[in-house]
Parts: sequence; C-alpha cells; structure tokens
Amino acid sequence: MTAPLLVALLQGAVLAVTALLVASLIALALGRRTLHGKLNTIFFLLAVITVLGLEVVVRIVWPHLSAEFFDPAGPYRRPLLIHLCFSVPATVILAVMMYTGRFRHRATHRALSGLFLILWTGTVVTGVGYLPGSLNPSVAIHEVATR
Ligand code: HEM
Repeated sequence: MTAPLLVALLQGAVLAVTALLVASLIALALGRRTLHGKLNTIFFLLAVITVLGLEVVVRIVWPHLSAEFFDPAGPYRRPLLIHLCFSVPATVILAVMMYTGRFRHRATHRALSGLFLILWTGTVVTGVGYLPGSLNPSVAIHEVATR
C-alpha cells in the first residue's frame, strides 16, 4: 500500500458517503423523514467503519504510512492538518447527529445540522481538493514535481 493510493481510496469513500448525505437531504425535503433516517444511518455506519479501518491501517498494518503523512518535509503534513481541522469535529458532530436523530432530540438535531454541513463541506473540500495523490490530478502532479 502506498500513501497516494490510500488517499485516493479515502477520497472515493468520502465522495460515496457524501452522495448518501445529499440523498438523505433530498428525502427530507420531500417529506420522507424515515428514509432520511435510514440513509443517514448507512452514512454513519460507513463513516465509522472507514475511520476505524483507517486507524487500524495507518497505526498497526502499515505504520510507515502514518510517518509519511506527518513527515514535516513531505507533501502531506500541511494539507492533512488543515483537513483534520474539519474532519475530526465533523466526526464528533456526526455521532451526535446520529444520536439526536435516532432518539428524537429534534431541537438539538436541527440546531447542529448547519454546523455539521459546514464541517462536512470542509472535510470534502480539503480532503478531495487539497491532499496529494488525489482524485484531483493537478495537485498530485504539482506535489510530485516539487518533492
Ligand atoms: C445535516 C443536515 C441534517 C438535517 C437538516 C436534518 C434534519 C432532520 C429532521 C428535520 C428530522 C426530523 C426530526 C423530527 O421531526 O422527528 C431528522 C430526523 C432524523 N435524522 Fe436528520 N438531519 C440532518 C443530518 C442527519 C445526520 C448526519 C444523521 C445521522 C448521522 C441524521 C439522522 C437522523 C435520524 C436517524 C432521524 C430520525 C428519522 C425517523 O424519524 O425515523 N440526520 N433529521
């Protein structure tokens, strides 16, 4: 496994679950509340599996990847730290969204939805647009050229 391949796999996963989130919001707009809940439950489970899988992979299976991602001289560290500013709080709020939706804490669920959407948008933009080895070839080519 290489760092660019892992990043590309994660970018694909983020885009796939984002499609689920968008579908869940369309369902909500159409008044299909239960469908919104089901789609977001899948979104939540896939996100949790991805985050836990990532932690196992970079800390236990291929620890050299973690070193490469945080290498101060490497291309990943800065964009990764910016990405984590969004993705870590987004993951925390995601768990709260799951809980408040499932157990009908409506006011909290609605109040946090805007914050969650901002954090998730930041997660997607910084994860897919900034990280090298990415689905955005110009980033990958630029980073490889300046290494
Ligand atoms: C980000 C924008 C979101 C908005 C604006 C939103 C809004 C809503 C609203 C208005 C309801 C109906 C509440 C009620 O009247 O009972 C609802 C229900 C629910 N939401 Fe969300 N939500 C969002 C994201 C999420 C996320 C990220 C999750 C899970 C990870 C989630 C899970 C649920 C669940 C499980 C329900 C209950 C569905 C049911 O009644 O069966 N929502 N949401």
